[in-house]
Formats: sequence, structure tokens, C-alpha cells
Amino acid sequence: MQPVNVAVIYYSATGTVHTLAQAAAEGARKAGAEVRLRKVAETAPPEAVGSRPEWARHVQDTADVVEAGLDDLEWADAVLFGTPTRFGNPASALRAFIETTGALWYQGKLAGKVYSAFTASNTAHGGQESTLLALGNTFYHWGGVIVPPGYTDPVQFESGNPYGTSHVAGDGPPGEVTLQAARHQAGRVVDITAALKAGQAA
Ligand SMILES: Cc1cc2nc3c(=O)[nH]c(=O)nc-3n(C[C@H](O)[C@H](O)[C@H](O)COP(=O)(O)O)c2cc1C
Repeated sequence: MQPVNVAVIYYSATGTVHTLAQAAAEGARKAGAEVRLRKVAETAPPEAVGSRPEWARHVQDTADVVEAGLDDLEWADAVLFGTPTRFGNPASALRAFIETTGALWYQGKLAGKVYSAFTASNTAHGGQESTLLALGNTFYHWGGVIVPPGYTDPVQFESGNPYGTSHVAGDGPPGEVTLQAARHQAGRVVDITAALKAGQAA
């Protein structure tokens, strides 16, 4: 049985979603997957990035993270997308990447893969679920198999978001419960993708 290929593709301005992405990558690896952790390209102008020291610092700190490409989507059996909530929606930098996938979509190459998503917002009711559901719209168009965490592990009753791991950045950096939720979500994605692959191979 071939290992499951998982791409964790994210955007993060100030590091919160990057931390969640690292935990998701860790969870996927622990579940036996080959993992590519990829950031999408920054689309904001340098003056916008430079206007917030924590943003500029994060860009520097993650300079070595490889940028996502269409080859990563083709390679992956499952993709976990991470994005901050921006006015209740996914960040435009992630959308910009998603909007380069037309040719892959047209060729049917995004169909049948497993998709899942995670997010951060500044406030508890600031739009985490609307952001995750908005990403889901794209997964439907791609013909994906959406795998949410639901309440499939005790950590979900603590972290509390069945749509996808979510963190309130206004409360500080993600703590162990949120990180464990991200690991669990990614592990579940791997398990279900492995079962799908095994079923297709049988
Ligand atoms: C343009 C913009 C719009 C935002 N919109 C929201 C929002 O609708 N709700 C919310 O709670 N936080 C909002 N935020 C805060 C971000 O969600 C928060 O800074 C982010 O989750 C932190 O993640 P990061 O550190 O990975 O960038 C917004 C931030 C920016 C810059």
C-alpha cells in the first residue's frame, strides 16, 4: 500500500495559522503520511507587510517554507487548507492560490481527493465557521471528499469546533488543546484517505 500524500497548504500573516499548519503536518506524519507543508505566496504589497512588525517578522521567519504550487495539489491524496478569517472569509492570498487551479479542476485532477480546513480569527464569534464553510464551497466544486473533525475525539469537546480546528488569536498563541485538535484532524484525514485508497485499489 502506497503511503497517503498530504499537502498542508496555508496562509498566515502573523504566525497563528502557521502554528496550526505545523501541528496538522505533525499529526499527518504521525498517522503515517508523506507530508508537504506549503505556504501560499504573499499577495500584499511590501508596504502593507512592513506596516505591521509582527507581519514582517513572520514573513522573515518562514522564508524557508516552500511556496505551494499546483504540483503539490496534483501530488496530494488529501489537502488540509489553513487560513485566517478575514471579514468572515478565507484570506485573499489563499483564494489567489485557489484561483490558479482552474486547469487542474477542468481536467478532473482535483476530484476524489480528501479536503479539510482549519482557521484562526481574532474573536470567538468573528467568523471561524463561515470561513471554513466558504472554503467548503470550493471543495464541492472540485468534487472533493470533505472530512471534518466532527466530535470524533475527546479533544473536540474541549476545542469545540466540528467544522475544523479553529483558534481565537486574540487569546494568545494556540495552546496544547488546539494543537492536539489540529493533529487529530490531520490524523483523521490520513485514516480516511488511506481507507479510500485501499478501497479503490481493491
Ligand atoms: C483584513 C483583516 C480582516 C480580519 N477579519 C476578521 C474577522 O472577520 N473576524 C475576526 O475575528 N478576526 C478577523 N481578523 C483577525 C485575523 O483573523 C487574525 O489576525 C488571524 O486569525 C491571525 O492569524 P495569523 O496570525 O495566522 O495571520 C482580520 C484581520 C485582518 C488583517
